[in-house]
Amino acid sequence: MNNKYVAPPYRIKMVEPIKVTTKEERIKFLKDAGYNPFSLRSEDVYIDLLTDSGTGAMSHFQWGALMQGDEAYAGSRSFFRLEKVAKGITGYKYIIPAHQGRGAEQVVLPQLVTRDGMFFISNMHFDTTRAHVELAGARALDCTIEEAMDTTTYHPFKGNFDLPRLEELILENGKENISGIIMTITNNSAGGQPVSMENMHEVKKIANKYDITILIDGARYAENAYFVKQREPGYENKSIREIALEAFEMADIFLMSSKKDGLSNIGGLICIKEDEDLYNQCRTYIVPMEGFPTYGGLAGRDMEALSVGLEEALEEDYLLHRLDQVRFLGDKLREAGVPIQYPTGGHAVFVDCKKFAPQIPYDLFPAQSVCNAVYIESGVRPVEIGSFLLGRDPDTGKNLESPLELMRLTIPRRTYTYKHLEYVADAVIEVYKNREKLVGLEFDYEPPVLRHFTARLKPVK
Ligand code: F0G
Repeated sequence: MNNKYVAPPYRIKMVEPIKVTTKEERIKFLKDAGYNPFSLRSEDVYIDLLTDSGTGAMSHFQWGALMQGDEAYAGSRSFFRLEKVAKGITGYKYIIPAHQGRGAEQVVLPQLVTRDGMFFISNMHFDTTRAHVELAGARALDCTIEEAMDTTTYHPFKGNFDLPRLEELILENGKENISGIIMTITNNSAGGQPVSMENMHEVKKIANKYDITILIDGARYAENAYFVKQREPGYENKSIREIALEAFEMADIFLMSSKKDGLSNIGGLICIKEDEDLYNQCRTYIVPMEGFPTYGGLAGRDMEALSVGLEEALEEDYLLHRLDQVRFLGDKLREAGVPIQYPTGGHAVFVDCKKFAPQIPYDLFPAQSVCNAVYIESGVRPVEIGSFLLGRDPDTGKNLESPLELMRLTIPRRTYTYKHLEYVADAVIEVYKNREKLVGLEFDYEPPVLRHFTARLKPVK
C-alpha cells in the first residue's frame, strides 16, 4: 500500500478528555492571561502545541516499567538499567542522569569554561543552552547556514553549520578561547531542521584541527538520524542506531533533554565519551545541583520509563509516523499558501509570521499576534519564537529584532491524531484568510528577564 502519510504504529489504550471551549470563552481566557498563551491554564486549551518537551504519551511498556523503579538514593537498580541503555546507544563510557536538559547543561558547561573571555560556538544555541553558557561566564556564537533564514527555499539540511563561518569564528576569537563546539541536532531554533552527517564530519575535522571539544545537544537526535536516513545518500540502508552511533562517535560529550527523544515526561542525560577527569568533575558538581550521580534529580521510576523510551524512540515505524505527522500539518498549510519554514522540521511546523502579518512591526510582535488569533479561533495553543522571546539589547534597552518571526506549532509525540492536526491546519488557514485584521501587541507588564514567560500584553488600538 502506498500511503502518503503512514498510519500510527500504535493503538489507543487510555484517553485523556480535553475540553472544548467557545470562542467567547477563549477571548476572555486570553484577555485574563494578558494576551500571553504561556499564562493560559492548560485546561482551557484544546490542542496544546506549546512544546514537544515532556508532553508525549508513554507506551504501556513504559507504564509497566514505572512500577519497577528502585528509589534508593545511591546505587539504584534503575540507574544501572538506564546506564546500560545509554551506553549501548552512545558507545560512551560515562553516564550521569539529570532532571532535564538544562540540568545537564548547568553541570557540564561551567566545567568547560576555564577562564574569562571564552566562547561556545554552535549551529544554533537553544535558549537554555545560551543562558547556561552565559551564566558560566562565556559567550554563545551561532553559525547556521544562510539558507535557514530563507523559509521559502528547500534545503535538505537547513540545520547545518556554516563551515567557513565556523572556522572564521575560531580564528577571530583564538582557538584557545573556544570552550567547545555544540552541535544541536536537530536545530530547534532554525525550525527543527536536521544536520547532515557530512556536515558533522566536517565540523569534526575543524575541531580536530584546532583541538576543540565537541558536544552534541541531542534532544532530538533520533529524529535527526531519521532525516539522515531519508535524505542523505549512502545512509538509506543503515539503521537509526548505526546512524546515531556514527554521530556520537564524532563528539566528546552528549547532553540530552530526554523529554523529547527519550519519550518521557521528565529527564536528562550527561554522557561523556572517555574523559575521566571531566566525568569526575561532573559527578562532584552534580550533587549540590541536581542530586546524587545515580539519580540526578530523577525518581527511580523516571529512570525506568526513560530506559524504555530511549529504545522506543529509535524504532523506525515510530519515527516514520512521527515525522509524517509533522509533515502532514506542514503540507496542509503550504497547500493553502500559509508561509512556513520549508521543508517541515522534525518536531514542529514553524509559520513565518514576517510574511503572515507584514503590517505588524517586529517590536509589536507579529508572531505573538498570530499565536493569539489561532488560540481564539480554535483553542489551539502555539508558541512564539521571534522578537518577543528575544528580548532587549542589554546595552541600549532597545527591542532586538529577530531574523525570523516564527509561530511554532509543536507536535507532542504519540499524542494527537491526524484529525487533530487537520483541525489545527483549518484554524491557522482561517486566521490566514483574515490576516489583514491582525494587530500588534504592546506591554502592560514587562519582566526584566525571560519576559516571554510572564509578560502581560495588550493589543494596540
Ligand atoms: N536543547 C534543546 C535543543 C532544546 O530544544 C531544549 C528544550 C533544551 C536543550 C533544554 O532542555 O527543556 O529539558 O531543560 N526545548 C524545549 C522546547 C523546552 O520547547 O523546545 P529541557
